[in-house]
Amino acid sequence: MTIKTDLTRRSFIKSAAAGASVVAAPMAITGCGADDDDKNLGALTFAHGVASGDPLANSVIIWTRITPQRPESSDSAEVTWAVSEATDMSAPVQTGTITTNSTKDFTVKVDVTGLDANKIYYYQFSNVNTDASTIGQTKTLPEGNVAAIKLAVCSCANYPAGYFNVYDQIANSDAEIVLHLGDYIYEYAVGEYGTTANTIDQGRNHSPTKEVWTLADYRQRYAQYRQDSMLQAAHKAKPFICVWDDHELANDSYKDGAANHTEGDEGTFEDRRNAAFQAYHEWLPIRTGNDLSDIYRQFEIGDLVNLQMMDTRQVARDKPVSLADFPDLLSGDAEKVAIAAAAFTSAIASSSRELLGSAQHSTVISNMVNNSAKWQVFGQQVLMGRILVPAELLVSIDTLTKKIEAGIDAAEDQIAVNTVITELYTLKLRANQSDPTLTDAEKSRINTVLPYNLDSWDGYAYEREILLIEAVKADKNLVVLAGDTHNAWASELRLLELGGSTTSNIHAGVEFATSSVSSPGFDEYLSLDAATKIGFESAITALVDDLRYMDANRRGYMTVEFTQTKATAEWVFVSDIATNENITTDSNYVQLAADGATPVPNKAKFEVLAEGPTITSKLVQVV
Ligand SMILES: [Fe+2]
Repeated sequence: MTIKTDLTRRSFIKSAAAGASVVAAPMAITGCGADDDDKNLGALTFAHGVASGDPLANSVIIWTRITPQRPESSDSAEVTWAVSEATDMSAPVQTGTITTNSTKDFTVKVDVTGLDANKIYYYQFSNVNTDASTIGQTKTLPEGNVAAIKLAVCSCANYPAGYFNVYDQIANSDAEIVLHLGDYIYEYAVGEYGTTANTIDQGRNHSPTKEVWTLADYRQRYAQYRQDSMLQAAHKAKPFICVWDDHELANDSYKDGAANHTEGDEGTFEDRRNAAFQAYHEWLPIRTGNDLSDIYRQFEIGDLVNLQMMDTRQVARDKPVSLADFPDLLSGDAEKVAIAAAAFTSAIASSSRELLGSAQHSTVISNMVNNSAKWQVFGQQVLMGRILVPAELLVSIDTLTKKIEAGIDAAEDQIAVNTVITELYTLKLRANQSDPTLTDAEKSRINTVLPYNLDSWDGYAYEREILLIEAVKADKNLVVLAGDTHNAWASELRLLELGGSTTSNIHAGVEFATSSVSSPGFDEYLSLDAATKIGFESAITALVDDLRYMDANRRGYMTVEFTQTKATAEWVFVSDIATNENITTDSNYVQLAADGATPVPNKAKFEVLAEGPTITSKLVQVV
């Protein structure tokens, strides 16, 4: 990427003032005189870098924070901003001044309008009493006929878990826009989730040291993350389009509660939610409307991509169903299992069960159906693909994870999981070859399946099915992007058979899901050496009918490039997060090609062009 020389305060003011003479409504540049309004704030610095986001064809949000020495002061600081087509900020095309203070945590966010489409811009902030900020680079969306666009997709950056090398790779990638699908921060206290033996040595203990639940806590947590040099580099280099997941508030949150919220001790959930939302809007370069809880947005990238950024977590989600509420499911008694399975299926498939909520759900459908772009893309948090795994394996993994989380020696359970996976995989391969010697009991072992994660779309099956049906009816090329799991996945999205629980061959779309920036995935529970990893990934990909690819233990991000004929996802994995030196990358590819000039989803060729052990290909043909 281009290395840009940052301007000094004096040259910035000079160039901003020069720009003021060429814009239609020149703003008041403060000049070199002292600004008395901020005298009680003490020394000022731009300590948290710059950011841009939510690009449209003619506008983009630019962001910074001016950090005062005495933030308790009620004084305000005046910040001047400029946007230029030149890397040295000469001849700015837009300039302005904005006031910030403690009510906004001294953050600055400007929606710069009147820009040209598909153009790279540079931006910078200044205050008369300090040096100017670093210079950021951003880009507006293209419009009209668009040949290609490449997105970098990431999620789940846990500060104590390791270095943010993934953000550094993103900063240096050729992606034009970064989609952040949430878990931008984690709420935990020092020593909790994600902490490793290296956390203290790396100086990456969480700040504040307590779990965050007040507005001041959340602000302090964002301030810590945004002092990370690699996260700053990613923001400086690319515009971000962000949505939150659960950890921007609390683990496994839903519309009126969260698994990691204790009502009373941690204040009311409503107060905590409002604090989390306010801090998010202060610190992220997102276009903020009147309702801070509403982050649904649509981005039209010419005739190529219609991107809908959704909230599956906070605004409407009903509390997830728990397998623990249906203990007979895992009892092994066929009669009890059948009764429990019927109750369970009706719970997760209930039409009154909400994930997006009726308002967002109908908006997404109508914006998809009425848009003629080649690709309909959903940017959202949780897996939409059906991850239905043999119940026996689910029980085995559940036992293992509970012991690990309780700090109990789980070596035998680890062996048990590996044994079950190996046995089931062998049975599945025999079933795929129509082995006539397969017994009913053996078939039952692989065909008795349950959703792996009820926190994902698997726990909200009705809304998912309606979305997929509408995509098929309207003949759309649907690509769903997801985060949340800390592992990489590619799934085919298929319609259910009417009245049945098995999937049909009606192809509705694909899902590409990114691994994490630093949060641990399956590797937290399974000791995956090279051989075990290959076996585990191969087995899970075979056992889960709609799954085409997975990576179980590497940290990384994903690029998704759309052209008029194909969509290609490339997973980029970093070699390490325990160090920030000599980082290398490795990648895998999945390609979805629309056949011909017009979108023909029923002739989509879906192939995994992996370099590793998961090479498979599939041609999906709809009658
Ligand atoms: Fe996460």
